[in-house]
Amino acid sequence: MKYIYGNWKMNFLDQDVNKFIKDFKKEKKPANVEFGLAVPFLHLQKMVKKLQKKCFIGAQNVCYAESGAYTGETSAKMLADKKTCFSLVGHSERRTKFLETNEQINQKIKLLLNNGIMPLLCVGETKEERAEKKTKRVLKTQLTKALKDVPNGKKFIIAYEPVWAIGTGITPEKSEIVENISYIKKVLSENNYLGICVLYGGSVNPENAKSLLGDDIIDGALVGGASLDAKKFVNIAVNLMRE
Ligand code: 13P
Repeated sequence: MKYIYGNWKMNFLDQDVNKFIKDFKKEKKPANVEFGLAVPFLHLQKMVKKLQKKCFIGAQNVCYAESGAYTGETSAKMLADKKTCFSLVGHSERRTKFLETNEQINQKIKLLLNNGIMPLLCVGETKEERAEKKTKRVLKTQLTKALKDVPNGKKFIIAYEPVWAIGTGITPEKSEIVENISYIKKVLSENNYLGICVLYGGSVNPENAKSLLGDDIIDGALVGGASLDAKKFVNIAVNLMRE
C-alpha cells in the first residue's frame, strides 16, 4: 500500500473545490493507493460530504489547547465533530511563519489522538541545517519532542519534508530521501513506535514520482502544488504504481 496525501495550503474558492471534486471522481485510480487531502477549514465540511468515500479528508492545523479563549482557533474536538480523519501538524510553514514550537506540536498531537483524529506530523531540515550536516540531529529532535508522552500503539503518519525542497522545484536525490526516511524509522522503532508510515514531501509531481518515490522504504508522498490539480494528483499515484 502507498499513501498519496495532498496539502492544499491556503488555496481554492468554492468554485475551485467543486471543479476538483468533479475531476477527482472522474480519474481512474490505481489499486493499493490510499489518498488523503488536507484542506482549508472552510472547505472541510463539503469535502467530507462529497469525497470521504474516495479520499481521507483532513485539516492543515489544529489548536494546541482544548477549548476556550483562543480567538480564531479550531479545536481537535471541533474537527472530530465534522468527521475529519486526520490533521497535519508541524508543517514547516507553520513552524516558520506562525512560530509554532515543538512543545505546541506535541500538545496538538495528543489532543488529536484523544479525539480519534490521526496526526500527520511533518519534519525536515532547512537548507542551512543540511549544509552544516545537522539533518539527522534536527530530525531526531523534532521527532522526540513532538512525540513526548505519546503512547505506543497509536496510529500516526510522518512526512519527511526537507524545507529547501518545498515549493522550489528542487528535490533531493532518492538516495538521500531513503537515508533520511530510514533514519526516521530507526528513531521511531527505538522508541517502540512500530509500523509507522513515512512519506516524502517537497516538489513531488507526476513526472518525478516514480524516480523519487519508487523504493519500499518510502511509503508515499505529501504533495503541495500538484495536489491542486486532480489529474496531476491522481497521476502521481498512477506513475508511482506503474511497473
Ligand atoms: P510542494 O509539493 O508544493 O513542494 O509542497 C510540499 C508541501 O509542503 C506539502 O506539505
